Amino acid sequence: MCGIIGYIGKEDAVPIIIDGLKKLEYRGYDSAGIAIYGQNGFDVVKQKGRLAALEERLSSRQLENNPLSGHLGIGHTRWATHGEPSDINSHPHVGSRNKIAVVHNGIIENYRQLKERLEYSVQNSEGVTFASQTDSEVIAQLAEHYYCMDNVNAGDLIDTVIRVSNAVEGSYALGIMCIDEPDVLIAVKKDNPLIIGVSDSGNFIASDVPAVLKYTKEVYYLNDKEIAVIRSGSVQFFNMDKEPLHKTTETVTWSMDSAEKGGYPHFMLKEIMEQPKVLRDTIQSVLGEGANKNVFDNICVSRFKKIAIAACGSAYNAGVTAKYVFEKLCRLSVETDLASEFRYKDPIIDNKTLVILVSQSGETADTIAAMREAKSKGAATLSIVNVLGSTIAKEADYCLFTAAGPEIAVATTKAFSAQLVLLYMLAIRFAHKLGLLTEYDEQELFVEIAALPYKVSAILEQTDAIQKYASTCVGYKSIFFIGRNIDYAIALEGSLKLKEISYIHSEAYAGGELKHGTISLVEENTLVVTISNCASLFGKIMSNAQQVISRGAKVLLIGNCSEIDDDTETEKLYYISLPHVSDIFSPSLSVVVLQLFSYYVAANKGLDIDKPRNLAKSVTVE
Ligand code: M6R
Repeated sequence: MCGIIGYIGKEDAVPIIIDGLKKLEYRGYDSAGIAIYGQNGFDVVKQKGRLAALEERLSSRQLENNPLSGHLGIGHTRWATHGEPSDINSHPHVGSRNKIAVVHNGIIENYRQLKERLEYSVQNSEGVTFASQTDSEVIAQLAEHYYCMDNVNAGDLIDTVIRVSNAVEGSYALGIMCIDEPDVLIAVKKDNPLIIGVSDSGNFIASDVPAVLKYTKEVYYLNDKEIAVIRSGSVQFFNMDKEPLHKTTETVTWSMDSAEKGGYPHFMLKEIMEQPKVLRDTIQSVLGEGANKNVFDNICVSRFKKIAIAACGSAYNAGVTAKYVFEKLCRLSVETDLASEFRYKDPIIDNKTLVILVSQSGETADTIAAMREAKSKGAATLSIVNVLGSTIAKEADYCLFTAAGPEIAVATTKAFSAQLVLLYMLAIRFAHKLGLLTEYDEQELFVEIAALPYKVSAILEQTDAIQKYASTCVGYKSIFFIGRNIDYAIALEGSLKLKEISYIHSEAYAGGELKHGTISLVEENTLVVTISNCASLFGKIMSNAQQVISRGAKVLLIGNCSEIDDDTETEKLYYISLPHVSDIFSPSLSVVVLQLFSYYVAANKGLDIDKPRNLAKSVTVE
């Protein structure tokens, strides 16, 4: 989704904003722009396409001895929703009177009505003519209307922002500059993230922490409907009644290196390789002291009759995987729902239900809505989130943090693995609290969990076979993934990973479902990735593999199958073996091979792996 960065301070804002935009590229975008408060007022450059194109425009300006420069500015990467990707639809938007410049992330649902009202006044010679097709331009025009036209409170920027916030419906994170206030940058948000970074050389606004990490680790997390008035050396906060608010900064623990590729060709590969450390840190966050341990100790599971898990995309797949573990260990009924469905299905939940929301970003619109739906029905909510200060982290009754650090590649890898491990540990602790596991059993399982990072390292040390096999798979139009029981759950994630970055059509099926329709899709040289870690189901999944092989398919078998020997491998069946682990934890190992497989297929196709087409890292609109 869109990315916002703004700066006010002693330095030239332009390189800081461009650098910040680069750090936000991972969010997904199709155009970009920058507005600087220059010597002659707002100086705006907007460009469809990648940031490189915007940079080229800035370089030309330099060559023409007309460089963009100033100490206050806002920048934006746009992911088109209303209006095609184009220079004119890119942000920042400046009102027709050239008084207010705005960058916006979110969707203004009542923009048509507002636009019509503002345009209507044209006939009375006071109205405005819109330049773009976007919903966002309404904010700039409306702000100018309030700032310039009305008698009451005209010329007061905070009043203007309050009036705009009250008039618009939908979601927004806004960075605002006013021509009469060359020393002020305004930020306000509702249902979209915005942070404020503070440093000795200036202050920042940004959609996400990586954009400011190079300059500061001290940030304010802005809450909904809070207004920040940011100057070079100060930040003041107000509520919608214009009363001052007291807020304190938080220190970010993420390192600057985590937002850099560090020698890897792609963030995705770097993040795959970081998984042993991420797993160790996440496990330690429960076994050591700290916030996660407190949640584990304090949550009273006996009051719940049911667990519901709601999430989107990979986070949903983590939930589906966890369902098998919770049900096996806790004997509690677990429902998993796509958050986008949960919110509209009138879920059967009450104060005896624990609703678990899983989200890397903590800002996914559907997951936020699912959480609010759960709360409105009296259910307890527990979130598993990677981003401190995010909406889901703040609003859920309990929050567990995945210690994955910033995840930049759109395709999630390390955050998914961290979610899985927290969910396993939660299931183990719940089972112990419910009297279904003795303390000794619980410790034994935690010891096995603590060994997972080493087993993942062992897989990551031998990627050659996966890489070689993947290089033969670039030509497939379609690849299927099958598994049974918990292997089916992780097959879903393998399939999602492949399609999102390689653009190869892919589906995942439970092995037992094949004969109920899907097998008709299998033909000569179809590839069926088959996952087999559940010893008791080995015979069953292998007969599924044989059924597709007999129909001409090739099988890539991934798992821990003691029955496989050199003779089993044929031209049609290639086997990648995994270290031994209990069935319920095996997804943590399978997924690493599946991630690498997808990565190498996409790399062999020469695709833009970190920023796949049409996708955004954090889906902050419905
Ligand atoms: O930030 P979230 O975990 O809530 O995001 C949910 C999905 O959008 C996300 O997992 C998406 O499916 C990933 N691109 C998958 O790699």
